[in-house]
Amino acid sequence: MTIPPHIVVLTGAGVSAESGIDTFRAGTNGQPSLWEQHRIEDVATPEAFARDPDLVLRFYDMRRAAIQTKAPNPAHLALARLDAAWPGHVTIVTQNVDDLHERAGAHGVIHMHGEHLSAWCATCDTRTRWTGPLADRPPCPACAAPTLRPDIVWFGEIPYRMDDIQAALAGADLFVSIGTSGAVYPAAGFVRLARELGAQTLELNLERSQGSAWFDETRLGPASEVVAAWVDGLLG
Ligand code: OAD
Repeated sequence: MTIPPHIVVLTGAGVSAESGIDTFRAGTNGQPSLWEQHRIEDVATPEAFARDPDLVLRFYDMRRAAIQTKAPNPAHLALARLDAAWPGHVTIVTQNVDDLHERAGAHGVIHMHGEHLSAWCATCDTRTRWTGPLADRPPCPACAAPTLRPDIVWFGEIPYRMDDIQAALAGADLFVSIGTSGAVYPAAGFVRLARELGAQTLELNLERSQGSAWFDETRLGPASEVVAAWVDGLLG
């Protein structure tokens, strides 16, 4: 009896684009774009939070409210189908901070850059599911300190669950990267690592990513189409 392949999927902003959530880098030149009228360094760094916490909290309150009005698209649904029906192991690692994989039905998703619907208390280190605003400094449900911040990995901070991700990559037979530009490390380096550890590598994206040369195969097109077609092909 052969063991079914272990598939590790890495997703980026492109998988949620057709749900109406902006990607970070527009166009084909890989340059950072304005992110809903804010420069990333004005809102997504610990320095920005120290300098102007109101701006940063309001910005994330807006994003947290916005994602709750969005719905999973056929790419999220296809990955949830794969997660449920594939006879082998599937690990979904996402750089996205929305919850669209979960709302599509996927389980055990690793959010390496954190989650919009989670708040982290800088005083007691507790994480709490959070759907409302943080800018009005609500008390932490665990310790009552008014020190909740978005549970988001900012530039200069260490992504979450790197040990789990490395273990998954070490056991992967197939590594699939979906809707990510390959501009931000460490995620951008996963394809090389997976390859060196023996996995086949597949890229599904609207356009070639910066690390495209590292993939055995690239299929270009909108995620709603190419991901659904890939999953349908696998599941027969
Ligand atoms: P990017 O905005 O850098 O890249 C999005 C990718 O999705 C690009 O390669 C697009 O071509 C592709 N794309 C756009 N629309 C698509 C569609 N409909 N179907 C398929 N692909 C599509 O986003 P990420 O690579 O996710 O980090 O960015 C990585 C990280 O940079 C983010 O997690 C965030 C950001 O700074 C943090 O916040 C820490």
